[in-house]
Amino acid sequence: MKIYFAPMEGITDGILRQAHNRIFGGVDVYCLPFHKLTQTMSLLTREIRDISPEENEGLNVLPQALTRDPEQLSAWMYYVSECGYSHADLNIGCPSPTVTKRGRGSGMLRDPFYLRAFFDRVFANTLPVSLSVKTRIGYESADEWPEILDILADYPFDHVTVHVRTMKEQYTGGIHPEAFETAVQKGIHHPVYNGDLRSVEDVNELKQRCPAAEAVMIGRGLLADPALARELRGGPEAGKDELQAWYTALYEGWAQRFHPTLALGRIKKLMEWPGEGDIRRKRLLRRADDIESCIDAILSD
Ligand SMILES: Cc1cc2nc3c(=O)[nH]c(=O)nc-3n(C[C@H](O)[C@H](O)[C@H](O)COP(=O)(O)O)c2cc1C
Repeated sequence: MKIYFAPMEGITDGILRQAHNRIFGGVDVYCLPFHKLTQTMSLLTREIRDISPEENEGLNVLPQALTRDPEQLSAWMYYVSECGYSHADLNIGCPSPTVTKRGRGSGMLRDPFYLRAFFDRVFANTLPVSLSVKTRIGYESADEWPEILDILADYPFDHVTVHVRTMKEQYTGGIHPEAFETAVQKGIHHPVYNGDLRSVEDVNELKQRCPAAEAVMIGRGLLADPALARELRGGPEAGKDELQAWYTALYEGWAQRFHPTLALGRIKKLMEWPGEGDIRRKRLLRRADDIESCIDAILSD
């Protein structure tokens, strides 16, 4: 089974990707958070750093763009190719209101007519890299999925990642695993399942339900249990020493890049993932004022 580490803007940067690969591994492809394309094609300094070969040395990565303009996407794909990569991804699933109100991300799903016209333009020319998409199953409702699938099935995507929620459902609302099966039945090329895979049991359940699920993308599950991909390959769970090394590497990397105080805030947010609802852990973390006490807070029994 192919495992993608989901892109998470503000979290899965080069520091995290490198530390993860070094300490836990098990991931086939690290997906880069989106580059928000603009008319002037000027990328942010952090976006340029994030895609640079130095930042991704030794990793298999998939850069991602957010745009509704075929020319912007095309120019960006040439840039991706010049950076030395052979694959690129388009985000048509982001549910953030600031993104969708401009018709980008899952805002693209609201207008199937435009979606088709957009991909007609994109695929009218030879592409410098292969293109995949990351989508949701609708804007307002899962009833929109068959029409979206009809469109996606008509283009030669490298793969199609399906976050089995609508825009409205954001990240925690209802989930529709059956929509993935519909994509498989429709003959979508290399569909990748995404959404709420938190444990080996969750992935096994998916495989039972849908044996054709050959690839999964995992985000929050890998933050909560960074050894999850390794476990899915039959490897061991995360040891305490590994978790200590993981959080230390993240803190040191981020403290150097941003500022120690900001790095600590970032680490605390990340550490809250495994213990959602764990009041004691939250209290200990809130009181912690250095990385050592943060690590103690989450590794104490
Ligand atoms: C903080 C945050 C940032 C995200 N940034 C991106 C992004 O840049 N590009 C993208 O395609 N998805 C992004 N996502 C969505 C995730 O990639 C993923 O689809 C989502 O978390 C569901 O998968 P999971 O249940 O395994 O976490 C983001 C999600 C979160 C929570």
